[in-house]
Amino acid sequence: MNDISTQPVGSLPPGRSGLPIVGESISYLRDPARFIQQRQQQYGNIFKTHLFGRPTIALIGADAARFLFANEGQRLEMTNTPNFEALLGVHSIGVKTGSAHQVLRKQLFQAFQPRALAEYTVTMETMTHCYLQKWEQMRELTWYPELKQYTLDIAYKLLVGVDTTADENLGTLYETWSNGLLSIPIRFPGSKLDRAMRARERLLQRIDTLIDQRQHNPSTQQDALGILLQAQDEAGNYLSRADVKDNILALLIAGHETLTSALTSLCLFLAQHPDVLQTARAEQAQLGLTGTLTQESLKQLSYLEQVLKEVLRMAPPVVRNGQRKVLETCEFAGFVIPKGWDVFYQIQETQQDPNVYTHPEQFDPQRFAPDRAEDKKVFSHIPFGGGIRECLGKEFARLEMKLFATLLIRDYDWELLPGQNLERVVLPFSRPRDGLKVKFWQRQK
Ligand code: HEM
Repeated sequence: MNDISTQPVGSLPPGRSGLPIVGESISYLRDPARFIQQRQQQYGNIFKTHLFGRPTIALIGADAARFLFANEGQRLEMTNTPNFEALLGVHSIGVKTGSAHQVLRKQLFQAFQPRALAEYTVTMETMTHCYLQKWEQMRELTWYPELKQYTLDIAYKLLVGVDTTADENLGTLYETWSNGLLSIPIRFPGSKLDRAMRARERLLQRIDTLIDQRQHNPSTQQDALGILLQAQDEAGNYLSRADVKDNILALLIAGHETLTSALTSLCLFLAQHPDVLQTARAEQAQLGLTGTLTQESLKQLSYLEQVLKEVLRMAPPVVRNGQRKVLETCEFAGFVIPKGWDVFYQIQETQQDPNVYTHPEQFDPQRFAPDRAEDKKVFSHIPFGGGIRECLGKEFARLEMKLFATLLIRDYDWELLPGQNLERVVLPFSRPRDGLKVKFWQRQK
């Protein structure tokens, strides 16, 4: 296999290219976490491989992340696997590059400004109470699918202004959509990709209907749908319907899959670390937060903030960022990164660096206390990525996580049911294999 598409000046990073065409994709997909760990042990923090038909370089560590973010949009550019691109849609923010990406990002950002977030808080709290009460009545539940419904419900309500309760198939459609992300990139009737593409079409049809409804009954609501329908490009043109549809779908997907993963990990870690749960409860009791939660009251919960940061360090929902295409040959850490190759950085391993974090394998929220601040090295804590493609919904996600955690730990208790597999599956989004089965009840205070 030809390893180099241009003439590099230095040597390529160590690593393997695997089999012709498939490269190392099969062993990667079989166990992505092991794949990375083994190669990191063997070759270090930068190594070459061949994934999804592309010669690729993996980067690990804060310095590597800094290299990638600094070159984003210049020598490196977002690229996607064929499945990702087909399932997200060519108009989606996740696929766009250059100035088209920047303009769209600015427009979408309006839905996540501090003013918008302040308005979301009340609805988030009401909806969270409803779900907590539902789980109390269930007594025993598998949390991952429940949290998926919860985060999807919130995303629909706040981003497009509708209740999902009437649409029972919605959860299944998103599930089928996700199953296509890592499937064989060939579409034939009944294949995973085919089913996922059909799910995409049905989700887009629903968004179409929402657009019609909004256009017939224009509201002053400044949610993501309203913003996109009013948004204009640099030439003053409104976005096309296809643009609006792909981006609403992107937000609804990004807005619930990742959060489901983060909340599930939070619930798992707290069940496994009762001392941390007690400290978080003591903080709340000491602050005496009463009445409706606001962003200001949530800000006071600094220990809880450390807990959430530690959850996202230990189990980042997205273990690696999307792929970047190398537009111009460059060098990093003494190795050549050739034009025409792809690169990606590993979030999971970057956040496990023993040179940055003491006992990185331990769940220890105190590492983020002001006197330790172990994440002071820039880009050593990157669950939301960084640079010009940093997560657009970061503050929305942090708000939802904190609000959910505050109400959960204040009023409820839970314990893990025996006989379940808690092994972590990392792709497409991190989660425990059996979905986290728990007993759930109201706390006796
Ligand atoms: C804990 C929850 C979340 C995590 C861990 C997370 C993580 C990430 C990461 C790592 C990226 C960058 C990917 C890359 O560099 O290739 C990203 C991008 C993005 N995220 Fe999130 N995300 C979360 C929640 C959300 C939410 C709630 C929304 C929206 C409601 C959202 C919308 C987006 C969008 C639109 C992008 C693409 C930004 C761009 O390309 O300019 N995310 N997210």
